[in-house]
Amino acid sequence: MALVGGWRRHYRRAGGGCGWHGRRCQLDEFPFSLLPIDVHHSGCKAHATRDSQETRMLEDTVKKILQARVYEAARETPLSPAPFLSRRLDNQILIKREDLQPVFSFKVRGAYNKMALLSDAQKAKGVIAASAGNHAQGLALAARQLGVKAVIVMPRITPEIKVQAVRARGAKVVLKGDAFSEAQEHAQTLIAEHGYTYIPPFDDIDVIAGQGTVGMEILRQNAGRLDAIFVPVGGGGLIAGIAAYVKYLRPEVKVIGVESEDSACLKAALEAGERVVLDQVGVFAEGVAVAQIGEAPFAILRGLVDEVITVNTDEMCAAVKDIFEDTRAVSETSGALSLAGLKKYIQQTGASGETLVCINSGANTNFDRLQHIAERTELGEQREAILAVTIPERPGSFKKFCRIIGKRMVTEFNYRYADLEHAHIFVGVQVKPGGDDRAEVIRKLRDAGYPVEDLTDNELAKLHIRHLGGGRPKEHFEEEVYRFEFPERPGALMNFLTHLPADWNISLFHYRNHGAAYGRVLVGMQVPNGDRAHVEEYFERIGYRFWKETDNVAYRLFME
Ligand SMILES: Cc1ncc(COP(=O)(O)O)c(C=O)c1O
Repeated sequence: MALVGGWRRHYRRAGGGCGWHGRRCQLDEFPFSLLPIDVHHSGCKAHATRDSQETRMLEDTVKKILQARVYEAARETPLSPAPFLSRRLDNQILIKREDLQPVFSFKVRGAYNKMALLSDAQKAKGVIAASAGNHAQGLALAARQLGVKAVIVMPRITPEIKVQAVRARGAKVVLKGDAFSEAQEHAQTLIAEHGYTYIPPFDDIDVIAGQGTVGMEILRQNAGRLDAIFVPVGGGGLIAGIAAYVKYLRPEVKVIGVESEDSACLKAALEAGERVVLDQVGVFAEGVAVAQIGEAPFAILRGLVDEVITVNTDEMCAAVKDIFEDTRAVSETSGALSLAGLKKYIQQTGASGETLVCINSGANTNFDRLQHIAERTELGEQREAILAVTIPERPGSFKKFCRIIGKRMVTEFNYRYADLEHAHIFVGVQVKPGGDDRAEVIRKLRDAGYPVEDLTDNELAKLHIRHLGGGRPKEHFEEEVYRFEFPERPGALMNFLTHLPADWNISLFHYRNHGAAYGRVLVGMQVPNGDRAHVEEYFERIGYRFWKETDNVAYRLFME
C-alpha cells in the first residue's frame, strides 16, 4: 500500500501541529475555513503562497459543489449498510449506491452540471463527447433532460450493447476509427464543423463539482463516526470532488483513492510529483482505464488525498461478489474497485470497529464478464459462434486464419497439429445476435478453402471439448512449449505471430478469453535446430511475459 500525498501536511493535523513543519502553528487553533490564509500561516510563511492558492481552490470547488445542479437528472442515492461484509471484516461498512442512478453510474452528475451551466447559444448548438463508457450514458441522459442535442463518438469496435444503450437515451452515436484516439480526433473535427461544445469526462471543474455531490451526500447521510471514504479513480473527477468537499468539512476523515494496478495513474503522478502518462493501461476495469490523471482533478486532489491503494483483477472480482452478496447488485469491476481497496486497507492496517465508506460507482457491467454465466448466456443469445476449422499444417497458415477472423473478439482458441498435412482449430468468436454474422464468418472461412464445422449448438463441444487442449499428435516431433501473458487488446496475437521467425511452425495453441486484462496463452512450436538456443531471445523482443513449460508434467502426460 502506498502512502502518498497528504492534505494534513499542508494544512493541519487533527490535534497535531503543522505536519509540514512538525510544530504547532496558529492553524491548529482554528478551523481554517473561517480564517484568512495569511492569519493561518503567520508562523508558517514558507507555505503561505501555496496554502492560500490551495485553500482558494478548495473553497471555490466546495462552493461549486454546493451550487451544483444535479438533481434534475440524478437522484440522491442511499448509503447502504453492508451487514455481511461488516460482520466478516469487523468494521462498519457502508456502500454509497451510485449504481442506483438512472444511468447506473454517478457520471450523470458531472455531465448534467456541466451542461446546465452552458450558455443558451452553446446549448442550441449541441454537445459532444468521445466515450464508450459511463460518461456517454450520463451525457446522453443529461442532454435529453435539458433538451440539448448530444453526439457521442465511439470507436468502431465498441460492443453493440453500449452503442444501443446510448442511442436508447436519444443521443446520436458516430462510430469512428479502431482506437479511442481516432474517435477523439473525430470529435474535434465535428466540433470545428458544427460548433458543438465538448463535455469532458473528468477534466473540468464543473464536472468535478457535479461528482462532488456524492461527497456532500455521504457527509449528510452519515453525520456520526466516519473514518475513511474509499473512492475509485480513473481520471480523478470523482475523487477530486469528494476530497474537496470532505476535507473542507471534516478534515479528519481519510479520503483514500483506489486504482486498478494496471491503470494506477494517480499513484504514479503523486509519486512523480507531476502528471505522468502510463505506457500501457489494462482495460479489465474499463471505467477507470485512464493513462493520465486529469489536470484539473490533480490540481485539486494532490494535497487532499491521504493515500492511494492499488488492487488487482482478482481482488476487484472478489469485491463484485461481495457487493452482490450484501445488496444483490451486480456492479461493474470499476464499481467494485473501491470496496476492493477498502478490504485491502483493513487487511494491511488491521483496522477494526471503524466506519468505512466505499462507493459502488457503476453497474454497467458487460454480462460476459461474469464468466460462468457468460459462457452459457453468450451462446444462449447466439452471440458466440463455436467453430471447428481444419487448416493446412504449414508455417504461415495459422496467421492467415487469424487474418480472416479479423478484429472480431475471439473468446477461445485451441490449435492442435493433427498430422503432416493438417491442424485443427477449435475457435469461439463473438458475433452479432441473429445468426447472420455467424453465417458470414463461416462463409469467409469456407471461401478461403477451410473445411468448417459449426459446433455452436453441440453440447458435447461446448461442455467438454472446448476445455481440452487437442490431444496427442499422431507422430512424435520435437516441440518447445511456452506459456505467455498477452495483453488483451486487438492485434496482440498478430503482434506475437509477426515477431516469430517465418520458419517456426506452431504446433499447439490454446487461448481462452477470461475477461481479464491479460489473456493466458499456451504455445507449442517446432523450432529449427539452429534457433533452439535463441528461442527466448525472440520472446524477450516481443515483450510479453513468458514461462517455459516443455518439461511441465501436465504437458508431458497429456499432450506430448
Ligand atoms: C464506474 C466508474 N467508476 C469510477 C470511475 C472513475 O471516475 P473518474 O474518471 O472521475 O476518476 C468511472 C469513470 O468513468 C466509472 O465509470
